[in-house]
Amino acid sequence: MKITKVAVIGAGLMGHGIAQVSAQVAGYEVYLKDIKQEFLDKGMGRIKWSLGKLVEKEKISQGDADTVLSRIHPTLDMKEAVGEADLVVEAAPEKLQLKKTLFEAFDEFTPYHAILASNTSSISITEIAKATKRPDKVVGMHFFNPVQIMKLVEIVKGEKTSDETVEVITKVSQQMRKETVLCKRDRPGFIVNRILVPALLDAIRLVEEDVASIEDIDKAIRLGLNWPMGPITLADYVGLDTALNITRVFQEGLDKHRYDPPALLEKMVKEGKLGRKTKQGFLDWSR
Ligand SMILES: NC(=O)c1ccc[n+]([C@@H]2O[C@H](COP(=O)([O-])OP(=O)(O)OC[C@H]3O[C@@H](n4cnc5c(N)ncnc54)[C@H](O)[C@@H]3O)[C@@H](O)[C@H]2O)c1
Repeated sequence: MKITKVAVIGAGLMGHGIAQVSAQVAGYEVYLKDIKQEFLDKGMGRIKWSLGKLVEKEKISQGDADTVLSRIHPTLDMKEAVGEADLVVEAAPEKLQLKKTLFEAFDEFTPYHAILASNTSSISITEIAKATKRPDKVVGMHFFNPVQIMKLVEIVKGEKTSDETVEVITKVSQQMRKETVLCKRDRPGFIVNRILVPALLDAIRLVEEDVASIEDIDKAIRLGLNWPMGPITLADYVGLDTALNITRVFQEGLDKHRYDPPALLEKMVKEGKLGRKTKQGFLDWSR
């Protein structure tokens, strides 16, 4: 199956990166959909900024950057976004009901051959697929932040995802010059977050219990485990609301007590301190 047109749903932190890589690296025609013009403008602004940096570093020419931009079509209209898509990659907020509603719409408006992928970090692909009449073509395509830089795509097989769908997504990922791993069973957190999120929760507990300073917790893990950044900084990058949502899904799907979130995490999310995206998390990102 040949993929030429890709619809990316949600122009936020992940969606803008997925749209950029789809257009720039894989050479696809991309429709980028969001719910408000200001969100589309922000997403396109991020893409322009990122391409500008590549031009500045002489990795691509201004002409290349212009070509990439001409391949990305921002739109508020669902039919326009997905109507001719061979592949839809959904990167809307991490809410089951929202994703189900979106997948119902994709099922209605996309050609029948189209593959419907979700970039969800923690929601069951099998559940999302139930909103469609083509669960064999619904799959997890889990990118990492920042999409332009991170090499990995976790491909997640739902209960009814076909081998052919997995094969197409593997090829698409390769076309984007990403490495893939296959999550054979649709379990909360897939591979990476199942290991990462408990580590982040424990790092936050160390802050809460005042066992060490944030600087020292990060330094310990950078130098002791050779992570490129410490867990507290990483939590701010992921988004504290996202981290909290994932722990809730783990509580429901894996173990209620083991994944009980630290009170400090709940407090910060309540106060709107969500990390880098709100300029305030455990660290001050305002400068
Ligand atoms: N943040 C991460 O590090 C990360 C990593 C991997 C996967 N994810 C997953 O990617 C998805 C998106 O996360 P994000 O961090 O980019 O969130 P985000 O909040 O930055 O972006 C979500 C975007 O979706 C838009 N949106 C909301 N409702 C919509 C709708 N009905 N139709 C179209 N667009 C809509 C929002 O306006 C926003 O621009 C989530 O499922 C998340 O779990 C996040």
